[in-house]
Amino acid sequence: MDLLLLEKSLLGIFVAVVVAITISKLRGKRFKLPPGPLPVPVFGNWLQVGDDLNHRNLTGLAKKFGDIFLLRMGQRNLVVVSSPELAKEVLHTQGVEFGSRTRNVVFDIFTGKGQDMVFTVYGEHWRKMRRIMTVPFFTNKVVQQYRFGWEAEAGSVVEDVKNNPEAATNGIILRRRLQLMMYNNMYRIMFDKRFESEDDPLFVRLKALNGERSRLAQSFEYNYGDFIPILRPFLRGYLKICKEVKERRLQLFKDHFVEDRKRLASTKSMNNEGLKCAIDHILDAQQKGEINEDNVLYIVENINVAAIETTLWSIEWGIAELVNHPEIQKKLRHELDTVLGVGHQITEPDTYKLPYLQAVVKETLRLRMAIPLLVPHMNLHDAKLAGYDIPAESKILVNAWWLANNPANWKNPEEFRPERFLEEESKVEANGNDFRYLPFGVGRRSCPGIILALPILGITLGRLVQNFELLPPLGQSKIDTTEKGGQFSLHILKHSTIVAKPREF
Ligand code: HEM
Repeated sequence: MDLLLLEKSLLGIFVAVVVAITISKLRGKRFKLPPGPLPVPVFGNWLQVGDDLNHRNLTGLAKKFGDIFLLRMGQRNLVVVSSPELAKEVLHTQGVEFGSRTRNVVFDIFTGKGQDMVFTVYGEHWRKMRRIMTVPFFTNKVVQQYRFGWEAEAGSVVEDVKNNPEAATNGIILRRRLQLMMYNNMYRIMFDKRFESEDDPLFVRLKALNGERSRLAQSFEYNYGDFIPILRPFLRGYLKICKEVKERRLQLFKDHFVEDRKRLASTKSMNNEGLKCAIDHILDAQQKGEINEDNVLYIVENINVAAIETTLWSIEWGIAELVNHPEIQKKLRHELDTVLGVGHQITEPDTYKLPYLQAVVKETLRLRMAIPLLVPHMNLHDAKLAGYDIPAESKILVNAWWLANNPANWKNPEEFRPERFLEEESKVEANGNDFRYLPFGVGRRSCPGIILALPILGITLGRLVQNFELLPPLGQSKIDTTEKGGQFSLHILKHSTIVAKPREF
């Protein structure tokens, strides 16, 4: 028999076995599965739907198959939920059943198979990690302790931009400076540290490694090896790079931040609660034997991704919308001037006196959700949803973007119109009090960082609009707001050049 024939025969046998196993599994269990396109052996629906399962493509599929549908992606089940009622069922009513997280071959590497908090299954470890992280990160006390730092960082952005002659003429990529600000906002909380400038070598290394981690994790490039286990050997090169990035990153966190802080703690009296930064609390938990050294590093890893990028993307989207809607920018500036007085630099407590600013923030998070599919959920055991059987360990995506952009539930949702949150949607908050609007999720696995993200967004956008007229570069009427989606993220594709003309006071 020639080689080609042998190959074909083996492939034929393999396909037959897979089909037989799939059919017997489904028959054996008599599952009533959610609707969806008809799967083919081995590949499931993957060849039909492709790799780019972003919020818009999934919305298209929801229009075809309904508010709950199932995609078979190779060996993995993917259930997509697209109505407020079903979102409530997944996140609230059956919050425990659907409160775990899927990982994939790449996230397994970056999280040490769930030794972190964000990607761990629902259970003892998650509860402990969330409890340990709450006091140092997620309380109003933290906001009150660090808000002066955030105000100072935003103030320093304003100063640097004013001092840069390019800013008022050709424009600058404002995001670069805001990225430094976001690192400083979070590194102050974590390690009581900040970086002096965009050229600080440690900041440059950190930024590069975090960027690489995000790119590798959010890419669709590795799907084939994740969906179809027999193809996994072809992913070896990709996974090797992931492992290297993960190790270099954790080593950097350890050598330059965690160990530094430990040394400082041993030379300085840390009895005074006020002097403690987040890592001191986390290291206390390690000393008590509640968590191990790896867990400490994974907490740092989680904050680097969950806190810094999401907030930065949202600031970037907010600026883009304000540049592209000058009348809204003007109205916001007018509110800041009249409520606070011209020249009075906005502070955290001021944000509560500024309804239009809050509406701008909410509208940004509605139209340009940083995590439009939430962080994928998972059911550890077989479950029921909307009368369908959901096989154990299915990946559950809640299309939060569509919930907040479905014209059946919102007036002209494609328009950037902050007024909606002062008019017909004035009761809707970002904390999940309405299942149509879940930019931070809701329930057990919802975002605990909302308490920090909202004031940081308000202070940053407020300071920029108070101090500058933000415009597209000369000759352009708008900046490009093409989106770039990932496994579950959404950011702006091009980091635009923005002209920032200082205001005269
Ligand atoms: C605008 C900024 C932010 C947005 C839009 C955002 C959004 C989200 C979303 C949608 C989730 C998943 C909810 C779910 O799966 O049901 C999440 C989870 C999470 N976020 Fe945020 N987030 C932001 C900022 C932050 C900040 C500043 C921090 C930390 C300081 C943070 C820490 C976390 C953590 C730890 C989780 C995982 C919670 C868990 O699995 O139990 N986030 N975030």
